[in-house]
Amino acid sequence: MPPPLFEDSPIPPTIEWMGDHIRLIDQRKLPGELVLVDVRSVEQLCELIFDLAIRGAPALGAAGAMGVALASVQGREMAEAASLLRATRPTAVNLAWGVDRALAAADPVAEAVQIAVNDVAVNQAIGAHGTSVVPDGARVLTHCNTGSLACVGWGTALGVIRSAHEAGRQPLVWVDETRPVLQGARLTAWELQQLGIPAVLVVDSMAGSLMAAGEVDLAIVGADRIAANGDVANKIGTYSLAVLARYHDIPFYVAAPSSTTDPTTPSGSEIVVELRPDAEVVEVGGIRLAPAGTAAQNWAFDVTPAELVTGYITEKGISTTASCLI
Ligand code: MRU
Repeated sequence: MPPPLFEDSPIPPTIEWMGDHIRLIDQRKLPGELVLVDVRSVEQLCELIFDLAIRGAPALGAAGAMGVALASVQGREMAEAASLLRATRPTAVNLAWGVDRALAAADPVAEAVQIAVNDVAVNQAIGAHGTSVVPDGARVLTHCNTGSLACVGWGTALGVIRSAHEAGRQPLVWVDETRPVLQGARLTAWELQQLGIPAVLVVDSMAGSLMAAGEVDLAIVGADRIAANGDVANKIGTYSLAVLARYHDIPFYVAAPSSTTDPTTPSGSEIVVELRPDAEVVEVGGIRLAPAGTAAQNWAFDVTPAELVTGYITEKGISTTASCLI
């Protein structure tokens, strides 16, 4: 039973437990088509996770837990399923967190369902706290997709913008397209359109000029892993934005659930950054841009030092230091 948020929502839950299988939105098909996929094996789920059919740290947490739940109802070795799931994507700590929570639970299905329900409540709490940093009519720059699609519902950084919009703050969103696989252009622009929130798409390299022109009041991004010292791993390009924001004296906020913090990783230099296939750089939507044989480098994430973060917005409140997160 999806939480009430989804009853009249134009965006269905990203992932749902269906009793004996998982149903998720295939984000590879957006914005063209809203397609739901039924997932009936752990291997199928692992492929969908690696291929970014489902992505975004909190959504991966729910997916990890539901993968273990699936193994449990199928009478399969749960520890083996857990290692397959954990190995799909190394950076978003929520994935391993969700897997471990379900693995340790007496009832993995109940735990996975609870994680999904809590995700929406936690994100709405992040949104409620975060609204206080969004002034009336603020022009807010964001990166990647941190909305409903990156979670089970509502969103983290985009959830703050959504809450501010609902509170009447009338934000305008600068949406970074977010190369290489364009989660900003394909997913964030789509979500904001569904929600009726004014947004303008920009190429990633325009952020500095926008800031220099006085067109950005604040930046809010999500996180895939926050180290104990507050360093933040997030979609590639986040670090450059944080440096630009500091240079232009623009507040730079990170919005994330506390499940994205990793007290066992002391600082950003110990975070494993996922290296993804070259094809995502040399091609766009399956169309080759660079000459055959071009070498490419595709780090999916970068690390922003804590000193560049103005504040962390979590379900517990807003803090200028990472100590509140742990
Ligand atoms: O590679 P992705 O699409 O999984 O990366 C997602 C991001 O980097 C998001 O900014 C992050 O997970 C926060 S999602 C609420």
